[in-house]
Amino acid sequence: MFIQALKEQLGEAPLSPGEVAIVGAGPGDPGLLTLRALCLLNQADCLVYDRLVSPDVMALAPQAAQRFYVGKASRCHALTQDETNQLLVRLAVTGKRVVRLKGGDPFIFGRGGEEAEMLVDNGIPFRVVPGITSAQGCSAYAGFPLTHRDYAQGVTFVTGHARADGSLNLDWPALASRRHTLVFYMGLTNAELIRRELLANGVPSRLPVALIERGTTPQQRRVITTLDRLPDTIRDESLTPPTLIVVGEVVSLAARLDAGCLAEAVA
Ligand SMILES: C[S@@+](CC[C@H](N)C(=O)[O-])C[C@H]1O[C@@H](n2cnc3c(N)ncnc32)[C@H](O)[C@@H]1O
Repeated sequence: MFIQALKEQLGEAPLSPGEVAIVGAGPGDPGLLTLRALCLLNQADCLVYDRLVSPDVMALAPQAAQRFYVGKASRCHALTQDETNQLLVRLAVTGKRVVRLKGGDPFIFGRGGEEAEMLVDNGIPFRVVPGITSAQGCSAYAGFPLTHRDYAQGVTFVTGHARADGSLNLDWPALASRRHTLVFYMGLTNAELIRRELLANGVPSRLPVALIERGTTPQQRRVITTLDRLPDTIRDESLTPPTLIVVGEVVSLAARLDAGCLAEAVA
């Protein structure tokens, strides 16, 4: 009933047989799903989903929808990207309404662009629904903003994922600019390299760093450290993926804003 009213209110064309919707599922909390995502989820014959799509989001999908898990933990893929592409094409050409659910936003380190290109190449109609990316969700739920007039005039989302040859080819001098927040996705394995390069390019060793594991979910863990202690903290706290690394003065606001949120909650 609610979904039907929502569909009418949004006025979006229904998902057609043979169409694919590439949908951002947000970072985990089902409350961060967009209304468009919820509507499309409810029209799916088939759901093709990644490891980062939370069980609470999956629970909002219709029971009758067929589920295809395509995985993707680091170096441990249930299906290769090619196999995932082929699956999407196969389901679409057999007339299914396909929802391709991706953690966070499909176009931010989500390979959504590659999947969209492949759908174009195969003449399959598709639409894309953005999601809240983990940097946004995790920072808000960890209690600090990504930009702030006094602390950071910009924010950069950076991949911490190395190429097959182990290199992380980033413009370190540019990343080291002052009053700027850096958010490293997939950065745990290369934390030592991140620390070394930032220090070598003049970033202060005492700059605060937040590590947010499973952000926005009931299992969220937030650990605050400093740049010089980044790899040690990851090891000491046994942090595991998915974890975001946020580097910048904005992190220092966490304690203050936490106190404010708490005061409001108990008032
Ligand atoms: C392949 S990228 C996918 C990013 C996703 N498309 C997005 O917009 O958030 C996976 C990385 O995103 C980060 N990530 C995704 N969800 C997260 C969460 N709930 N908590 C912390 N980090 C998360 C982690 O750094 C993880 O290694």
